Parts: sequence; structure tokens; C-alpha cells
Amino acid sequence: MPPPTHLEGVRPFLAMELMERAFALEAAGVHVVHLEIGEPDFAPPPAAVAACQAALAAGETNYTDSRGLPELRAAIARDKSQRTGASVDPEQVLVTSGTSPALLMVFRLLVAPGDEVLVPTPHYPCYPNFVRLCGGVPVPIPCDPERGYAVDLDAARAAITPRTRAIVLGSPANPTGAVQSRETMRGLASLDVPLVCDEIYDGLVYGDARVTSALEVTERGFVLDGFSKRYAMTGFRLGYAIAPPEAVRTLQILQQNLFISASEFVQRAGLAALAEGGPTVAAARDRYACQRRILIDGLQELGFEVPREPEGAFYVFADARRFATDSLAFARGLLERAHVAVTPGVDFGEAGEGWLRFCYAATEEDLREGLGRIGRELGG
Ligand SMILES: Cc1ncc(COP(=O)(O)O)c(C=O)c1O
Repeated sequence: MPPPTHLEGVRPFLAMELMERAFALEAAGVHVVHLEIGEPDFAPPPAAVAACQAALAAGETNYTDSRGLPELRAAIARDKSQRTGASVDPEQVLVTSGTSPALLMVFRLLVAPGDEVLVPTPHYPCYPNFVRLCGGVPVPIPCDPERGYAVDLDAARAAITPRTRAIVLGSPANPTGAVQSRETMRGLASLDVPLVCDEIYDGLVYGDARVTSALEVTERGFVLDGFSKRYAMTGFRLGYAIAPPEAVRTLQILQQNLFISASEFVQRAGLAALAEGGPTVAAARDRYACQRRILIDGLQELGFEVPREPEGAFYVFADARRFATDSLAFARGLLERAHVAVTPGVDFGEAGEGWLRFCYAATEEDLREGLGRIGRELGG
């Protein structure tokens, strides 16, 4: 069945498509090196696993308040306040089954058919798809690697129309690893359009980079965050939105209808991760810092260009136009012939065509094996 016309604009998430093809190859006995998907290579905090198991054993398998367990909302508000210096009220927190549902609900809240959302690009693939799903129109704002992918405030201002309802961005960003400066975040807040800021990679930064949360620069912003990346809890499906107080009631109604609540035992795991997961996150960050170097150097040796080194998250966004202009065909070829899964740059918007995204949340062994296979495929 072809997609119905109202969903025609919603495109496949190519990182997932490549991963699913890799799974099929693996099922047929092929050894694939995974550098495509943003999946941490370390185990979740042991305390989170233990809390989840204990909750399951204790029968904590029910619906909860749609906004989340009160103690988890309080712990998230405390954690986010500590990390940002902003004051977050637990009443602003809505716990969700991953950051993705939180994004969907925030867009549902802000975007009516025909409304526009500014999307600095390269961008996380799903942002424009969420906007389209709401009948809205994503408006790309190209960001230049030579300027560190800083959002061009003049370009953003010039793109605002009476239909503009939000600007959405990640910082640290997927796929570029860029961290927006405090000055840029202040500028974005002054645009007088709600700022939707995806902070799922907050805490995973290298060198001198310092993340400025939207919470520090505006009281009208929507912040999305979650447990997938920092705590390696992708499969738990746990995230949250922090919203202006006046928006929480509508988000609560959406959650009641769409998702009811996040799983109770998973929320218990989230509580334990916040309480005891700090050392796991610190160890992962140290390891990523080394793996980041290995991947950047290895890619450059192979002839890829990395005009801007990532400051955060765990991806390298590399210019591959020296080898191919069609990034999807190139990525598919690498997977089928070299058995290395990478993400085509076009997944991140037209500005990413000809580029590839490589994830360094992989073991050092896999990174070196992947680089070796790519080198041989390119004839090195
Ligand atoms: C920027 C960004 N936002 C959101 C998500 C989805 O996160 P979750 O697993 O919490 O739904 C991802 C996953 O890759 C991401 O990179």
C-alpha cells in the first residue's frame, strides 16, 4: 500500500533503514561493523538495571500518572536544575517513553496545518518529519561548518513569517556534534519564536565545550531530554519534556491519549540512573573522547574531510564528496560490499548530501576494523 497522501512527505529514517538492512545481513551470517546508529556501546548503570529488575519483581508493572511518577519528575527537575543552573519546577516535567514521543507531542502542541518551523540544518532526521506529520512545513536554515555550525541568527530572523511557530535544534547536535554558544542561544531566544531544544546529548562534550541549555536563556522554551544516550538506556525508552507551565496541561492531555504513561518499572530505572549513574556517564565520556580522536584521524587518513571536529555527542560528520555525491548509494555500497554500516548524510537534510555520519560510540576494535574495511573498499 503506498503511503496515504497526508503522509507522503514523511520520509524514512535512513539510519534505521541501514541498521535494519545490517540486521538482515547479520541474520544471514555476515559480520557487520555498526557505525550507523546512535547507540552507546557501554552497559546502562548497574543500579538502573537492578532497580528495573526489582520493580518488575515487586509487580510495579502498572500505568502511572500520565506525567510520570512524582518522585521521578522531582528527580529530573533537580538534575536538570543542577546541570543548567536554571530553576526547573517538577510541575514543568512530563516523563515520556523516550525523547521521540516528547518531540511528537511538543510539535503537536505548537504546529497546526500550514504552520512553519525553522530547522537549522544539518539536523536530526526526525525533526522535519514530526513537523510534516502535524501538517506543518519545515523551513531549513543552513549552518556552515566553517562557522562551527553556529545558527545564523540573521538567516533565522529573515526566515520568520506570520506562520512560524517554533525553531527546533539540538545542542550538542546530531549529526555535527556542534554545541551552540551561549551568545547564539541568547540570540535564538530573542527571536520571539518558541525555542524547542533537544538536549539529549547534554553531558557528552569534549574539550572546553560548554552546553548552554535553552532553560538558561528563555522561560518560553521547550527542552527535550532523555536517558538513551547519557545512560546508554536506548531500549528502556525513557525521556522527558520540560515545558513552560502554561503548556503542561495540554501536553498531559496528549500523553493521556497517545501513550498513557511511560512504563512504571522503566521509570524506576530512570530514578536509579539519576541517583547513581554519574560514574557510568563519566567513564563513557572519557572513552568517547579517545574513540572520537581515533575516528577523526582515521577518516582523515582515508581522505574524508572533517571541516569541523565535533564538540559533543558521539558522531563525526564527514565530507565524502571526494568519493561520491549520492550519500545513500555510497552508504548502501559500503554496507553490501565492505559490511560497514554508516549513515548517509542526506538523512540530515539536503545540506548533508555527499556527506556521511559515523558513530564513535563503538568499541575501539570495531572502529579500527570499520576504518580498515572502508579503506580497502576505497582501494587504499
Ligand atoms: C538528537 C536526537 N533526538 C532524539 C533521539 C531519540 O531519542 P530517544 O531514544 O530518547 O527517543 C535521538 C536518537 O538518536 C537523537 O539523536
